[in-house]
Amino acid sequence: MLSLKWVFVLQILFTLIYLNTPTSSSDPLVQQRLDKVQHLPGQTFNISFAHYSGYVTVNEDSGRALFYWFIEAAEDPSSKPLVLWLNGGPGCSSIAYGQSEEIGPFHIKEDGKTLYLNPYSWNQVANILFLDSPVGVGFSYSNTSSDVSTNGDMRTAKDSLAFLLKWFERFPQYKGRDFYITGESYAGHYVPQLSQAIVRHNSATKAKSINLKGYMVGNALTDDFHDHLGVFQFMWSAGMISDQTYKLLNVFCDFQPFIHSSASCDKIMDIASEEIGNIDPYSIFTPPCSVKVGYSNQLMKRLIRVGRISQRYDPCTEQHSVVYYNLPEVQQALHVYADNAPSKWATCSDEVSATWKDSPKTVLDVYRELIHAGLRIWIFSGDTDAIIPVTSTRYSVDALKLPTVGPWRAWYDDGQVGGWSQEYAGLTFVTVRGAGHEVPLHKPKQALTLIKAFLKGTSMPSLEQLADS
Ligand SMILES: *[C@@H]1O[C@H](CO)[C@@H](O)[C@H](O)[C@H]1NC(C)=O
Ligand SMILES: *[C@@H]1O[C@H](CO)[C@@H](O)[C@H](O)[C@H]1NC(C)=O
Repeated sequence: MLSLKWVFVLQILFTLIYLNTPTSSSDPLVQQRLDKVQHLPGQTFNISFAHYSGYVTVNEDSGRALFYWFIEAAEDPSSKPLVLWLNGGPGCSSIAYGQSEEIGPFHIKEDGKTLYLNPYSWNQVANILFLDSPVGVGFSYSNTSSDVSTNGDMRTAKDSLAFLLKWFERFPQYKGRDFYITGESYAGHYVPQLSQAIVRHNSATKAKSINLKGYMVGNALTDDFHDHLGVFQFMWSAGMISDQTYKLLNVFCDFQPFIHSSASCDKIMDIASEEIGNIDPYSIFTPPCSVKVGYSNQLMKRLIRVGRISQRYDPCTEQHSVVYYNLPEVQQALHVYADNAPSKWATCSDEVSATWKDSPKTVLDVYRELIHAGLRIWIFSGDTDAIIPVTSTRYSVDALKLPTVGPWRAWYDDGQVGGWSQEYAGLTFVTVRGAGHEVPLHKPKQALTLIKAFLKGTSMPSLEQLADS
């Protein structure tokens, strides 16, 4: 054992001495060691798990590198699955949202400097990987500056696949591990598209280094037409807009793309914004963070980015991450590449979202292919979100025309209805009662129940099951 350790130490020394850029070491295991995070500024508690962060180059010619943060399970990581989490936007950082206010262990206090441990972190049941994708998002960068304004769905999937293939080389202990992809909002595109890229890569190469078992998305953009029908219906039935505006939205916006809508649709959206007033559309029953927060006249343009948070909870949690991740000592601890880091870190990149290129009107065809491939597929929905509401997801799921395999039913958490669930042949749909756009932010305990059931492949808990256990 000891001698093996010495070989390892020598290997590191060798690398440090003979390579002028240790951050691009060619030995993946050495790079894994270098990526290990030693201590985070503002971390006042001890942790039982290891975590790593750094860059993976996904395209040598352009110099595109994606930033990741990998957090091992709190107990017995070698027996737990690997879960990738992606946020949407397009242009929003998975470290800003997924890690720092949803499923990650390190959440940030109001001062923007101190951390606290999230008691419902998904690293209780899985090893969790956060990826800032694509380039221009979070700490991910490209040495070809035009890359940041030419992102689209296709290159995002391709780069994310390249990321995973290289990441598994750096973390060979996870090769072949049960792997799941999760995410929300615009990641309703990323998650199925990346899953498809992996399934196709595996079948073309007969390799199984990425042992993809399934995926799960929440409040996910899925099908522009059905998502539009659902969002307008939700706003109308929640009493947020007038009858007339409801009719006009259906006339001018139903057939528009979600990402870059027409001027006539934007005009009706402006009227809708006026009617809706200053609420948090991402969580319609909780207070907004600040005065200027509701549906703005930029609404459609910004509609599906996560953000503008709220909760019992601190409605301004998003702003704390802006303070924290801009601290030089935090960037240093996370191995952020100072030369290429953005001059100011932001939760979402306006440039990335405003210049987004290809974005298919639907990903239902991808669902059909992946259901056929036998992946475990779950869709969940926080039912107080007015961005991609429960009605949108129901219309989109319905368009798949899958047979149901059981009755619609309530699921329970601590004896209370946590939401409702419908199992279909090839897909499970779960709502989370009282949760907004970011389900794990608003209902952290219920979200942990959800990921547990998903990873086990069981139904959501019933009242009887609870009484039994
Ligand atoms: C963390 O662990 C160290 C070493 O075991 C110990 O001295 C310290 O008191 C612990 N800190 C906290 C906050 O528990
Ligand atoms: C980007 O350019 C810098 C400076 O030349 C270099 O150190 C870095 O490795 C490059 N990044 C990638 C991903 O090629």
